[in-house]
Amino acid sequence: MPAMSPALTNRCMRDKLQWHMQSDEHLGNPAMNHGQLTDDPLLELVSEMSGIAVWEYNFAVNAMLRTAGHDALYGLDWQVHWNLDTFLSATHPDDREAISETIAQSVAPEGPDAYEGDFRVVRPDGSIRWLWVRGQVVVRDEAGRGQIVRGVIADITGRKEIEEQLRNTTDLYRESLMATISSTMTLGNLRDPYTAGHERRVGEFAYATGEQLGLNPDALEGLRLAGYMHDVGKFAVPSEILARPSRLSAAERILVETHPRAGYEVLSEIPFPWPIALVALQHHERLDGTGYPEGLSGDEIIPEARILAVADVFEAMSSHRPYRPALGSEAAIAELESGAGTRYDPRVVTAFLTQMRENGLASDST
Ligand SMILES: [Fe+2]
Repeated sequence: MPAMSPALTNRCMRDKLQWHMQSDEHLGNPAMNHGQLTDDPLLELVSEMSGIAVWEYNFAVNAMLRTAGHDALYGLDWQVHWNLDTFLSATHPDDREAISETIAQSVAPEGPDAYEGDFRVVRPDGSIRWLWVRGQVVVRDEAGRGQIVRGVIADITGRKEIEEQLRNTTDLYRESLMATISSTMTLGNLRDPYTAGHERRVGEFAYATGEQLGLNPDALEGLRLAGYMHDVGKFAVPSEILARPSRLSAAERILVETHPRAGYEVLSEIPFPWPIALVALQHHERLDGTGYPEGLSGDEIIPEARILAVADVFEAMSSHRPYRPALGSEAAIAELESGAGTRYDPRVVTAFLTQMRENGLASDST
């Protein structure tokens, strides 16, 4: 077993945290490493009262120094010898590979100085507990390998159980929400097939555009659902107007233009975790104030509605409508490019067109 050189002990990065481990008397001396309790009463008190055990593992002698509560976390009586084998045999089989990898990294030359993670242990009575561990390499050998690692460990089974319950509740909530939206879309499809197909595609286009803009998965899910629901206010418009195979009169046009507000009124009753109702209200607004129903401009229009607006215009122009054939994706692209910076958010237009060119976004009828 190699003894530590003075140069090595000087490389200890946490000298001030040493409890009783003066290197000359401790490091490299196997007799002092096997199954020892720390001899710092204050550390023992803090460890006992907080439920967080403190440990130090010495790879040179494959042994661990720790506070009294450490072994109890594993459901074990105090072990005289605690080494890597003790640790790995108590670790849940499914977590052993990850733990072994973490250990390998901590002793690798110039490996990470600190690591943290959760893992399961199987107690002698068969029960499974979740432990949280954080370790810090405090001494490296001359080759840069981790030699001594110190850390803390605690039982987090209660927290894991609450997280699991929360996840199940959230999954159930999301499933209910999706089922509600799906039912609404099915109803809409029966009444007005053009709008239902349009909403579905706008949802996918908005999602892809948000992805290009670097939005997080939760925000992307919100954008997709906003797309699915943004024209729900068309329920308030007589279906014979929506399906009329000819151009609308001015009065009928005004009636159609009530759909953002009608959609807002319906959707604002539902406690979505995203601004779905506002997106429905604002998806026909334009940056330069020429949109409807409020004539909002600039930052008054929320970012999600700006994304929806671009996806909506592209889909609407490039798809077949009851009153006209598809204008085609070229015309839709020309509209977006000419309006970028005036009617449409230029970053959104760029992101949409990038996705379209790279991933082939297209309407069903183009
Ligand atoms: Fe609309």
